[in-house]
Amino acid sequence: MSRPAEKPALKPNDLEAFWMPFTANRSFKKRPRIVVRAKDMHYYTAEGRAVLDGAAGMWCCNAGHNRDTIVAAIRAEAETLDYAPPFQFAHPKAFSLASRIAALAPGDLDHVFFCNSGSEAVDTALKIALAYHNVRGEGARTRLIGRERGYHGVGFGGISVGGMPNNRKYFGSLLAGVDHLPHTYNREEQAFTKGEPEWGAHLADELERIVALHDASTIAAVIVEPMAGSTGVLPPPKGYLQRLRAICDKYGILLIFDEVITGFGRLGHAFAAERYGVAPDMITFAKGVTSGAVPMGGVVVRKGIHDTFMRGPEHAIELFHGYTYSAHPLACAAGLATLDLYRDEKLFERAKKLEPKWADAAMSLKGLPGVLDIRTVGLTAAIDLASRPDAFGKRAFETMDRAFHEDDLMLRVAGETLALTPPLIITESQIGEMFEKVAKVIKAGA
Ligand SMILES: Cc1ncc(COP(=O)(O)O)c(C=O)c1O
Repeated sequence: MSRPAEKPALKPNDLEAFWMPFTANRSFKKRPRIVVRAKDMHYYTAEGRAVLDGAAGMWCCNAGHNRDTIVAAIRAEAETLDYAPPFQFAHPKAFSLASRIAALAPGDLDHVFFCNSGSEAVDTALKIALAYHNVRGEGARTRLIGRERGYHGVGFGGISVGGMPNNRKYFGSLLAGVDHLPHTYNREEQAFTKGEPEWGAHLADELERIVALHDASTIAAVIVEPMAGSTGVLPPPKGYLQRLRAICDKYGILLIFDEVITGFGRLGHAFAAERYGVAPDMITFAKGVTSGAVPMGGVVVRKGIHDTFMRGPEHAIELFHGYTYSAHPLACAAGLATLDLYRDEKLFERAKKLEPKWADAAMSLKGLPGVLDIRTVGLTAAIDLASRPDAFGKRAFETMDRAFHEDDLMLRVAGETLALTPPLIITESQIGEMFEKVAKVIKAGA
C-alpha cells in the first residue's frame, strides 16, 4: 500500500491553513491584521506598533489586556489543577465563582450554569426554558421568540432565535416553532440619540400579536439582547424592556436577557438588567466574565426555575445538559480574578461616569462626510456610514482596515456600521485620541 504523500511543511508564516471565522479570508491573507501581544489599552504588532483597542478585543476584555492579577491567577491554577470533571465531580472555584456572579445579578437570579461561550450560553438558556416548562407539565410550551437583528451566537438555537439574515440563510430550516419580534431601530425617529431613544416602546406590544397568533400555551420563552450589540449598537427604547417583561408575566412566558455583551460593566452596571430595572428569568453571559482571558460562558437562572428541577430521586440527574469544560478550573480562576479587578477598580462605576464624555466625543463626529447616524449607550458607540453604490459594507470594511494599518486603532464593523466598545479602563484622554483617529479615518475614506 502506498503511503500518502507527505504534506508540505507549513512555513511559520503560512496563513493558508487557518480558515478564519467571520472573516473575509482572501483579503485578510493579502493584507493581514495580526497582533502578537497586548497590555492594558493596547495591542502590539510584530513590528512593535501599539494599536489602541477600541473594541475590547471583541467586547470582552473589559478590564483591559493582560492584567497582572488575572495572568497570575491563570498561571497558579494551571500549576495546581489543570482540569476537573464537572459532571458528578467539582472543584472549589466553580462554587465560589457561581456565588460571586449570582451576587451581581438582580433579584432571585441566584443559580449559575457554566459553559464556554456565548453561543453555548444561549443554547443552554433555551434548553433550560424548554425543560422547565416540560418538568412542570406544560410541555406544549415549545415556541421560542427572538427578535429581528438579534445576535445570539452561532449554535442552531442561537441562529434560530437570532435575526441577522446572513447568519441564518445558509443553514437550512433551523429550529422549528420560532417567531421574531420586530427590531427597535428607526432612523427617522431615533437618529443621533445618546442612550435610550424615546421612540419605540410600543414595539414590545408586538409580543401580544405573536401570543394571539400562537396562543400563550405554546410559547416557552422570549430572548432579547437588552442592547442589541453585534447588529450595530441598538439601545432599547425607553420603557420597551419593561413592557416586554409585563407581557411575558401576563402569559407565563420566560424572559431571557442575552447579556453576553452587556454583562460585566459595558453599560455601567454589572448587568443591563440593573440599568433598566427589569429582572429577566435568565441572563446569559460570557466574554467579560474572564475579561476575555479564558473562554467561559454561563446562564444565571432564577431560583424558582432551578428549584423546579430539584425533584425526583436524589441520585438522579436533574438536567441532562452540560459540557466537558463547564466551569473549567482555569476559567474559574480567571473569572474570580476578573471580578476582583472589577470590584477593586470600580470599573462598572467608571464606565457609568465616563458615559456622558464618551457620548459627547462620539457625537462630535456628526456632520463628517457619509455619517448617517451615531448611537451610544454605556461605553459603546456605533457610527452608520453611507454605502458606496452597489458595495454594501465595503466602506466600513475599508475604514476598519485603514484604522488598523494607518491609524493604529482597532475597531469593529457590522455591515456599514463602525462599532467602538473599549476596555472599561479607558482614560478620558484616550477617549479623545480614539475619536480623533475615527474622525481621521472616516474622512480618509470619504
Ligand atoms: C449577545 C450575544 N450573544 C451570544 C454571542 C455569542 O458568543 P460567542 O461568540 O462567545 O459564542 C455574542 C457574541 O458576540 C453576543 O453578542
